[in-house]
Amino acid sequence: MARLCTLAVGSVTVLLARGVIAEAQITNDTFFYGQSPPVYPSPQIQGLGDWAAAYSQAQAFVAQLTIEEKTNLTGGYAEENGCSGNIYAIERLGFPGLCVTDAGNGVRGTDFVNGYASGIHVGAAWNKGLTYRRGVDMGGEFRAKGVNLQLGPVVGPLGRVAEGGRNWEGFSADPYLSGKLVAQHIRGVQSNGVGTCTKHYIGNEQETDRNPTTNSQNETVASLSSNIDDTTMHELYLWPFVDAVHAGTVAIMCSYNRINNSYACQNSKTLNGILKTELGFQGYVVSDWFAQHSGVASAEAGLDMVMPSGLAFWGPNLTEAVQNGSIPEARLNDMATRIMATWYYTNQNDGYPARGVGMPASLSAPHEVVNARNPSARPGLMQAAVEGHVLVKNVDNTLPLQKPRLLTVYGYDAVNPQFNTPTPGLSSWALGLTSTDVYSVLCGFSSALGPCTPFLGYAANGTIYTGGGSGATSPAYISAPLDAIQARAMQDGDTVVYWDTQNINATGAVEGATDACLVFINAEASEGVDRPALYDSYSDSLVINIANQCSNTIVTIHNAGIRLVDNWIDHPNVTAVIYAHLPGQDSGRALVSILYGDVSPSGKLPYTVARNESDYGAILSPVQTPEESEYSLFPQDAFSEGVYIDYRSFDAKNITPRYEFGYGLTYTTFSYSDISISKIPNPRNQSAYATGAIIPGGHADLFANVVTVSATITNIGSVGAAEIAQLYVGIPASGQPVRQLRGFEKVFLTPGGSQTVHFYLQRRDLSVWDAVAQNWRMVVGGHYSFSVGASSRDLPLTSTFTL
Ligand SMILES: *[C@@H]1O[C@H](CO)[C@@H](O)[C@H](O)[C@H]1NC(C)=O
Ligand SMILES: *[C@@H]1O[C@H](CO)[C@@H](O)[C@H](O)[C@H]1NC(C)=O
Ligand SMILES: *[C@@H]1O[C@H](CO)[C@@H](O)[C@H](O)[C@H]1NC(C)=O
Ligand SMILES: *[C@@H]1O[C@H](CO)[C@@H](O)[C@H](O)[C@H]1NC(C)=O
Ligand SMILES: *[C@@H]1O[C@H](CO)[C@@H](O)[C@H](O)[C@H]1NC(C)=O
Ligand SMILES: *[C@@H]1O[C@H](CO)[C@@H](O)[C@H](O)[C@H]1NC(C)=O
Ligand SMILES: *[C@@H]1O[C@H](CO)[C@@H](O)[C@H](O)[C@H]1NC(C)=O
Ligand SMILES: *[C@@H]1O[C@H](CO)[C@@H](O)[C@H](O)[C@H]1NC(C)=O
Ligand SMILES: *[C@@H]1O[C@H](CO)[C@@H](O)[C@H](O)[C@H]1NC(C)=O
Ligand SMILES: *[C@@H]1O[C@H](CO)[C@@H](O)[C@H](O)[C@H]1NC(C)=O
Ligand SMILES: *[C@@H]1O[C@H](CO)[C@@H](O)[C@H](O)[C@H]1NC(C)=O
Repeated sequence: MARLCTLAVGSVTVLLARGVIAEAQITNDTFFYGQSPPVYPSPQIQGLGDWAAAYSQAQAFVAQLTIEEKTNLTGGYAEENGCSGNIYAIERLGFPGLCVTDAGNGVRGTDFVNGYASGIHVGAAWNKGLTYRRGVDMGGEFRAKGVNLQLGPVVGPLGRVAEGGRNWEGFSADPYLSGKLVAQHIRGVQSNGVGTCTKHYIGNEQETDRNPTTNSQNETVASLSSNIDDTTMHELYLWPFVDAVHAGTVAIMCSYNRINNSYACQNSKTLNGILKTELGFQGYVVSDWFAQHSGVASAEAGLDMVMPSGLAFWGPNLTEAVQNGSIPEARLNDMATRIMATWYYTNQNDGYPARGVGMPASLSAPHEVVNARNPSARPGLMQAAVEGHVLVKNVDNTLPLQKPRLLTVYGYDAVNPQFNTPTPGLSSWALGLTSTDVYSVLCGFSSALGPCTPFLGYAANGTIYTGGGSGATSPAYISAPLDAIQARAMQDGDTVVYWDTQNINATGAVEGATDACLVFINAEASEGVDRPALYDSYSDSLVINIANQCSNTIVTIHNAGIRLVDNWIDHPNVTAVIYAHLPGQDSGRALVSILYGDVSPSGKLPYTVARNESDYGAILSPVQTPEESEYSLFPQDAFSEGVYIDYRSFDAKNITPRYEFGYGLTYTTFSYSDISISKIPNPRNQSAYATGAIIPGGHADLFANVVTVSATITNIGSVGAAEIAQLYVGIPASGQPVRQLRGFEKVFLTPGGSQTVHFYLQRRDLSVWDAVAQNWRMVVGGHYSFSVGASSRDLPLTSTFTL
């Protein structure tokens, strides 16, 4: 309740007296105005960084256009194809228009494409090279299908709300990990000439009330306002967007929510101010679908393209507003120039496949096949599927399995969902799980959305390899765990497999001779709805029931977000537990390779698993605004925890998590030694504040390396495995978390092998946001602490350094 009564003002949070608010009779959001400062006019593209050539080509192109043609570039339209959105061609000048399509984890909604591991799975792999590779492979598919812009990757939501329904689409609840991986993704996809659209900008941290609705009196309820103070904005939510802009993302999608009471697609502070001025963004801002709420205001605030339709507010009215002087023609020119610059920047003017060529309007009608699947993508798909598995419990080397003679398999998550979802066929398979499919296997939501399976809680009946909604994937096939375990048994000739994948209460179901009982459960999530809880009792009863009967119970959880395990984790018969996340189409094969020890697990948690839901505090659940409250028409979310989300919060409150951020086991042991710190000679500027020209991402200095930390890692066990070495920094300034991730390196080491890893810290990694100076500032003269180790709470090496 306190969250409804607080508002962020300046960088401190002020508790407003409820009586005062009631007296003010909030009938509109004027009450809140002034918090999102006006920033006008909208900055024009300048050709910063490596955009100079694209900028001049775009200028030359746009100079030839009529006002109507420029307007045509800014608004989407529906065509008879499977693209999520289209931009009109300008045929007289050889511009074929644009196809933009979902989403960040692979091409959705068409055939002959692959279903990649989801963002959270890639986050759990902590592998920069693999993330780049996934981007390259995925980009090749978007290109082959004639898609100009991938509607992804996702770095917002960041993962503030533990139950957030879309947290699985992004990489991690930590901005640094998220930022490093998003940059690799963007470079990978764009190396194929496909643009990326980094989303959702910004503060879209929950699904509940993300869009305007009507209440029982038929009044319009505005979407939730994320009231984020300037420091939190910069140090947390903006951070990975900086990496995205710096990596050259060509588009940014403004989100559904409001920020400080101004809709994200017409917020001049976030678009004109932060994105286009401070970050020097050279591409275009495109609205989330139906996220535009005004015509002139959104144009002036920096929106450049609207989806899915220009006719909602712009179209002929934008032309008229320019002709009658309401909107300067320079603003329209800038929209068109930014959009065309991305076309040249990605070289789409040179031999790009025809727009939407592989995106038929209907898959059920005969259509020409464009096979976007490249055999060269297969190793990367499998490797990413493997590396996102996180082993968190492994008593007495239960895993890997040693030549098992008999395995028994339990649980609804072991089997292929094709046979179990209420709507099998194209909608759930080739088209990817839609949010309706997921709703229909969830409970506690509108029954109008479909039948609900009462005792499943929020698990999906069938193995999950993706979350639901626009970020879902369209796999070429699904390797379900039971299929892959069977295939392995068939191959080795000695193992027998029994299974019971539906009955949770089976007694006498455990064959006395079994070597292990493999239990499969899941926790599904989807766009459009937040999760009701972080565990469900149906799945927990299944685990407990089998554990009560089987002394070697191995639990695998496919989880589209945080999943608590405290109802059974200490059960003495639960001998091993794996968070399997969302591995994509190679799910079962990848798991089997880990279970049998063909590869050692190498993932680590990209979020914190608590012992109890209450440990997440107020940001466990989304803000729910009661209809009778004074905020009912203008829901508010104060973000009063500031930067203290996930491990930053657990550290600050001294709460012991079940499994901390960065935690994960493998089949060997690593030792850490020899930390050393060296200052890079002649960093570009020794002063506290960042300087230098603005390049995409901000001041050039921010990206200069200033300090290198090195440490040696040795494999002291008996099998080869990869370790993810992590560097955490304590910045000596008030309001800073005790430690923040500022480096990670994944290295594969053979038994006895040893390697020195280097963490290169950029100026921004050691800076705090100075809201008064409106700049990043290093704490010159302050004693920074550096710790290196295997997780955020296992840091054997520490040292301090004075800048
Ligand atoms: C909006 O609300 C303020 C009080 O917060 C009130 O003074 C003003 O008259 C209202 N404006 C409209 C148009 O209702
Ligand atoms: C939101 O309001 C807070 C408090 O006044 C301010 O620090 C921040 O800069 C504002 N952000 C935007 C985007 O308006
Ligand atoms: C906008 O594009 C559509 C489709 O090509 C075309 O019919 C229309 O004439 C265009 N408008 C202008 C002003 O070019
Ligand atoms: C709700 O309001 C809209 C216009 O704002 C109107 O078209 C609609 O009929 C109203 N519905 C009801 C049930 O009153
Ligand atoms: C254009 O503006 C008029 C008048 O404000 C409005 O009725 C109409 O819906 C608008 N059309 C479009 C396409 O935005
Ligand atoms: C100019 O055109 C726009 C869009 O139709 C309209 O909203 C605005 O009122 C017009 N302004 C003037 C001064 O005619
Ligand atoms: C899951 O699907 C299977 C196969 O369609 C069905 O027999 C079973 O009852 C379903 N389980 C639940 C909990 O809905
Ligand atoms: C399983 O057994 C428990 C305890 O006896 C009971 O509460 C529950 O309803 C049973 N569940 C099913 C699906 O039969
Ligand atoms: C563990 O499993 C064995 C069967 O192998 C069973 O006898 C025992 O009761 C189980 N332990 C617990 C604590 O349930
Ligand atoms: C969290 O704590 C509450 C109250 O102590 C308890 O009812 C609940 O089962 C706990 N949840 C988990 C996952 O342990
Ligand atoms: C270094 O930064 C200071 C403070 O912002 C600035 O005055 C100075 O010009 C910068 N020096 C260089 C070489 O950029």
